[in-house]
Amino acid sequence: LSSSVRSSRRRRRATGYLVLLGALVAVGFGYAALAPGSSASGPSSGPTAAVIKGRELFLLNCASCHGYDATGTGVAPSLIGVGSAMVDFQLSTGRMPLAEHGPEAPERKPAFDRKQILQIAAYIASLAPGPAIPSSLDWKSANFSAGGALFRTNCAQCHNSAGAGGALTYGKYAPALNSVTPLEIYEAMETGPENMPDFNWLTAQQKLDIIRYVRGVQTESDPGGLGLGRVGPVTEGLVGWLAGAGLCVLIAMWIGSKA
Ligand code: HEC
Ligand code: HEC
Repeated sequence: LSSSVRSSRRRRRATGYLVLLGALVAVGFGYAALAPGSSASGPSSGPTAAVIKGRELFLLNCASCHGYDATGTGVAPSLIGVGSAMVDFQLSTGRMPLAEHGPEAPERKPAFDRKQILQIAAYIASLAPGPAIPSSLDWKSANFSAGGALFRTNCAQCHNSAGAGGALTYGKYAPALNSVTPLEIYEAMETGPENMPDFNWLTAQQKLDIIRYVRGVQTESDPGGLGLGRVGPVTEGLVGWLAGAGLCVLIAMWIGSKA
């Protein structure tokens, strides 16, 4: 009898330990789940290294015009909510930092390398959400002829049907598209820089088709002879007159001198 009492007491004590252990484990897991995260990717972990570096570059290169908190000044607009795509477009086409005031910020050699551009973009994106730089663009398998049709209806009135560019009013112009990268084309459609409207109503696939078309035209040869800058009938007519009519006059003069 006494041995069975002892063993049941031992069993009760063992269950007591198990319950205690279970409670401790539960508290441990509960604490881990509820405690503020200390991992670098957690939402409460503060600015990333890229954002901190981007802010430094911003203060040195942009703040004088766009304001120390990027909310804009009398000189330049606020950048709150413009998104990383807009910053990437402006910096990778060298439009910003603006060198001098004119009707339009022209494309130039970029002032920053890729890493710095992404850092500044990350800083601006950390202030407020906005259109982001796409992580990948699979334009190579997109549809060239569908892109051509979309380009002619939406872009050609400003950029010319071969992307050669064209003049707009008040000294502004739509630049030639013969050296833009796929990412810049995408970001231009996404953000609508200056006088260009944005094309966010196009589907992702339509944007890729347009990129495929612009890239195709960039690398295509001119099977009919010289491209003449592909600006259309005006230069073609001019060359026709000067070269064609000029040649006839020369021949006429030569025949005349023989007679
Ligand atoms: C000398 C003044 C000046 C400096 C310096 C400057 N900007 Fe600008 N920025 C402007 C002006 C003016 C505009 C608006 C007109 C334009 O887009 O040409 C502008 C427009 C922009 C836009 C487009 C905003 C929109 O909503 O259309 C972005 C993005 C931008 N700047 C980013 C930057 C960044 C990033 C830097 C620093 C690397 C920078 N800028 C430096 C004057 C400046
Ligand atoms: C109303 C005229 C207009 C239309 C329509 C238009 N654009 Fe533009 N586009 C412009 C202007 C103006 C600029 C220069 C903006 C600047 O300097 O900030 C530009 C700039 C660009 C750039 C940057 C070029 C560079 O050299 O950096 C690309 C790429 C571009 N446009 C593509 C397109 C595509 C693709 C379409 C059609 C889906 C289109 N645009 C429709 C006026 C237009």
